[in-house]
Amino acid sequence: MAESRWSPESWRSKPVEQAPVYRDAQALAEVEKQLAGFPPLVFAGEARKLKRALGKAAAGEAFLLQGGDCAESFAEHSADNIRDFFRVFLQMAVVMTFAGSSPVVKVGRIAGQFAKPRSAGTETIGGVELPSYRGDIINDIGFTPEAREPDPRRQLEAYRQSAATLNLLRAFAGGGYANLENVHRWMLGFVKDSPQSGRYQELADRITETLGFMRAIGLDTEAHPELRATDFYTSHEALLLGFEQAMTRVDSTTGDWYATSGHMIWIGDRTRQLNGAHVEYCRGVKNPIGLKCGPSLKPDDLIRLIDALDPEQEPGRLTLICRFGADKVEAHLPPLIRAVKREGRKVLWSCDPMHGNTIKSASGYKTRPFERIVGEIKSFFAVHRAEGSYAGGVHLEMTGKDVTECTGGARAISEADLHDRYHTYCDPRLNAEQAIEVAFLVAELLKAERLAAGVKHVEAAE
Ligand code: PEP
Ligand code: CO
Repeated sequence: MAESRWSPESWRSKPVEQAPVYRDAQALAEVEKQLAGFPPLVFAGEARKLKRALGKAAAGEAFLLQGGDCAESFAEHSADNIRDFFRVFLQMAVVMTFAGSSPVVKVGRIAGQFAKPRSAGTETIGGVELPSYRGDIINDIGFTPEAREPDPRRQLEAYRQSAATLNLLRAFAGGGYANLENVHRWMLGFVKDSPQSGRYQELADRITETLGFMRAIGLDTEAHPELRATDFYTSHEALLLGFEQAMTRVDSTTGDWYATSGHMIWIGDRTRQLNGAHVEYCRGVKNPIGLKCGPSLKPDDLIRLIDALDPEQEPGRLTLICRFGADKVEAHLPPLIRAVKREGRKVLWSCDPMHGNTIKSASGYKTRPFERIVGEIKSFFAVHRAEGSYAGGVHLEMTGKDVTECTGGARAISEADLHDRYHTYCDPRLNAEQAIEVAFLVAELLKAERLAAGVKHVEAAE
């Protein structure tokens, strides 16, 4: 497979899972042609910079924080939503940077996260069966035959929304909003209001002290523009391959192909067939690639996928996003880590504690218990520690808003609370407080990891 010639359309000759059927082939072709003429959303040089940062994370010198909506929607596209997400995300990053004493690579599931794989092709409500909702880039969430009909023009709308979102994110990241002092102030507000504030106070106080010290020696945001700006990257699942193909461009400086729909793209757990269209598309673009690894992935198949997706063994090229479920990670992760080690491959291991922990509440809502999310992260770190490898990232579904979609957390959202503010278009997300709580937990784990690594260094030096 890896020897055959790649082109942006070579995926079309492979079996493709989860693809919508468009009735009007000509309308689809026109949309794809139009997209192909639009400006890229991101640039190859940015994707390369992200790859270098992820290479550091794979080597244990940085940590990946990836997160955002399960599915972005056209209806909820507002400056407030983007700002609230970005604000929470930066707070999480600061807490984790401090505790881990290493850079946090910030990658949003945003500005392009529109297409959704579904476990069933149809949905039945009250005896009526209709095609499943596949994300706003494909069809509409309304439960009518018209709404569920795939409409190619939605791809133009998704492009427009991604461009507008990215524009605001770039302004936030570079224009002073991401100022370290601001982020710290927001974080203190969170700690003050949290029912568990005692637990977070110590770390928060140490960050306050450190910033005070930095100010005292002249390392302030006035004199140091780097304290006012941050690197922020975008990512999404590369599911809708016609759209991805239209956004694939040659980088003029290197002559390589890049997906310009986002900095990092990933392959979902349902579309990672070695000879399938999604692996074929992703192997040919030079962006950092994510691969979702669920319980059905066998170690040998993983190695074949690594060979296909990272034949040049490039640092930062491949992130394995593990999503087994809190009760399965201890059985499924070690064989994969051992296979990767045995083959001498370097990857970045990241933990998605969301997708293996979805349950249906008594009232019929899809939810995720906070304890299970936290449980999977803890087990992920413990397994890596035991295997002598590095737990290098987390991948979360989250929002900056105060929704009630996952149960538990410091405010103990109950199943009965779920209906209150259940707004997601797809999977249940952590709300702002729950997301920051997760960041404090990861911070504790990173600190333990750092201390353990420090002990090893000392032992090695003796
Ligand atoms: C997702 O990330 O929203 C998703 C569908 O994940 P997975 O492919 O791991 O099920
Ligand atoms: Co999801």
